[in-house]
Amino acid sequence: MSTDANHNHDHAPQADAPQDPTAFWESHYGDEQVWSGNVNASLADAAEHLIPGSVLDLGCGEGADVLWLAQRGWRAVGVDISQAAIIRARTAAEAADLGEDRAAFVRADLATLADRDRHESLKGPFDLVTASFFQSPVALDRQRILRAAADLVAAGGHLLLTSHAAPPSWAKEQMGGHADHAGKHASDDTSDHDHHTGGPAEFPSPEDELSTLALDPHEWETLTAGIRTRDVQAPDSAHAHLDDSVVLVRRRGIPAA
Ligand SMILES: C[S@@+](CC[C@H](N)C(=O)[O-])C[C@H]1O[C@@H](n2cnc3c(N)ncnc32)[C@H](O)[C@@H]1O
Repeated sequence: MSTDANHNHDHAPQADAPQDPTAFWESHYGDEQVWSGNVNASLADAAEHLIPGSVLDLGCGEGADVLWLAQRGWRAVGVDISQAAIIRARTAAEAADLGEDRAAFVRADLATLADRDRHESLKGPFDLVTASFFQSPVALDRQRILRAAADLVAAGGHLLLTSHAAPPSWAKEQMGGHADHAGKHASDDTSDHDHHTGGPAEFPSPEDELSTLALDPHEWETLTAGIRTRDVQAPDSAHAHLDDSVVLVRRRGIPAA
C-alpha cells in the first residue's frame, strides 16, 4: 500500500485533547485527510474469499474500506462518530460514483448499536461486519459494541476484527520502553495512518478479541485468530513493523437466499 495521505501532523496525545469521544475524534479528523485512502490489507484478504452481500464497517473513518467493498459488489454501510470523517467518506463515494445503495455512511455513536431505536441502516442482519482498528484513546465500550455487532451477523455471515496488537517499536523508544501507556500507532502501512491509544487493554491479542466476543462455539466457528505483521517505515524512515490481531469468525447456519 502506498503512503499517499497528507498526514504529517503529529497525533501524539495532547494534554488539552478533549476527552469526550465525539469531540476527540472530531478534532482528530480536523480539516485535512488523515488516513491513506487505501483498503486495510486484512480486510481485502478476507473479503476476497467471501461472496459479496451486505456489510457494516464499524468506525469506518474516511471510508476507504467501505469504498473498496462497494466497488467489489458489496452493499456497504460505514458508521463513525465523527461528522468530519463521514463527510469526507461521502465525498469520496460520490467521486467514485458510488450511490448510497452501494456505499452509505452514517454518523452515529456505536454505543447505540444495541439500542432498538438505532439508525435504520444499522439494523442488519449483515453478511459481514468488519472493524478495522476500532480502538480509541478516549472512552469506548468496545466489548459491548463488538458483542452487539456479532448479534447483527446473518446466519452463514462473518465478523472480522483487525486491531493493533502492540504499539510500534518507535513509540516504545519514545516512551523509554514503557509502551503500555499512550502508544502511537499506524493502522495502515506507515505514518499516514498514525494515531495513538492508551493502556494495555487497547492492544488486544487474538485471544483477547475472542474473549471479548464470548461467542457460543455451537453458533460460531473461528476461521482465523492470529497476528499479522506489516513492514512499515517509522517516522524517522527506519524499517519497522507493526503487529495486528486478526480475528475472522463465521456464524454457523445457511445464509438466507
Ligand atoms: C483508529 S480509527 C480507524 C478508522 C478506520 N477503520 C481505519 O482503519 O482507518 C478509529 C475510528 O473509530 C471511530 N470511533 C471511535 N469511537 C466511536 C464510537 N463510539 N462510535 C463510532 N465510531 C467511533 C473514530 O472516529 C475513528 O474513525
